[in-house]
Amino acid sequence: MNEIEYEKLISNLRRLKLYRIIEILDNYLERVNKEEISFTEALAYLIKEETQFKEDKSLEIRTRVAGFPYRKTIEDFDFSFQPSIDMRQINELRTMRFIVNKENVIFLGPPGVGKTHLAIGLGIDAIRNNYSVYYTNCYELIRKLNKARFENTLDRQLKRLLKYKVLIIDEIGYLPFDKEGANLFFQLISRKYEKSSIIITSNKSFKDWGEIFNDEVIASAILDRLLHHATVINIKGNSYRLKDRINARVRTEQGG
Ligand SMILES: Nc1ncnc2c1ncn2[C@@H]1O[C@H](COP(=O)(O)OP(=O)(O)OP(=O)(O)O)[C@@H](O)[C@H]1O
Ligand SMILES: [Mg+2]
Repeated sequence: MNEIEYEKLISNLRRLKLYRIIEILDNYLERVNKEEISFTEALAYLIKEETQFKEDKSLEIRTRVAGFPYRKTIEDFDFSFQPSIDMRQINELRTMRFIVNKENVIFLGPPGVGKTHLAIGLGIDAIRNNYSVYYTNCYELIRKLNKARFENTLDRQLKRLLKYKVLIIDEIGYLPFDKEGANLFFQLISRKYEKSSIIITSNKSFKDWGEIFNDEVIASAILDRLLHHATVINIKGNSYRLKDRINARVRTEQGG
């Protein structure tokens, strides 16, 4: 292949946006010649590289869109530290059937037991399975919905949230909702009900949700919809954040 033909090839690859092939072509052609790699094998290799590159990029973009506060997977989770978690439930969730069936997932438990980690981990699994995911902290969510209400764009904002196959709402219960906040949250939940999945984390048990929303009636209306089709994972255990401190104390007490 002469230089002009090679330039043409590169420009065509660029037009087709086959950037990974452009990147590796030079070196690979050398290898093909030296090792007498067959045409089909070479073609298969280049296409495989490009496909992988595109998949990785798409995964990265969709993960960025999801807006996780940190990236940790279910594989990163040490289940032996949290024996109250039923692995069958986790494995069932990882089949992604809950998304197909438009069911919800609720992680309950005290601080540091891994609620956010598992919610993000499930979210990353969902992205790997090509579902759209969006993470929000519940105060940020209410702030945005309130702002949208003032700007007369609430409907558009709610529709935007409805289009995600999985909406993660983190940290319900740390701060109480005001009346308008509770109202907005109810609107979101009732519009999402049976349309797509919500993953929620909360440090408060359901009986305390009346207090969080400052309104027993609205809290029970929200719970009624959330729990109709839902997996509830109640984590009872120690904070992972304090793990090292507890270990250090044990070592000190043992004189180690
Ligand atoms: N079993 C675990 N294995 C590995 N890392 C864990 C485990 N549990 C928690 N962690 C890590 O500890 C930190 C706190 O966990 P996480 O953010 O999930 O807590 P949380 O239950 O959401 O607490 P909070 O209610 O305070 O938000 C994170 O960095 C998380 O990755
Ligand atoms: Mg958390």
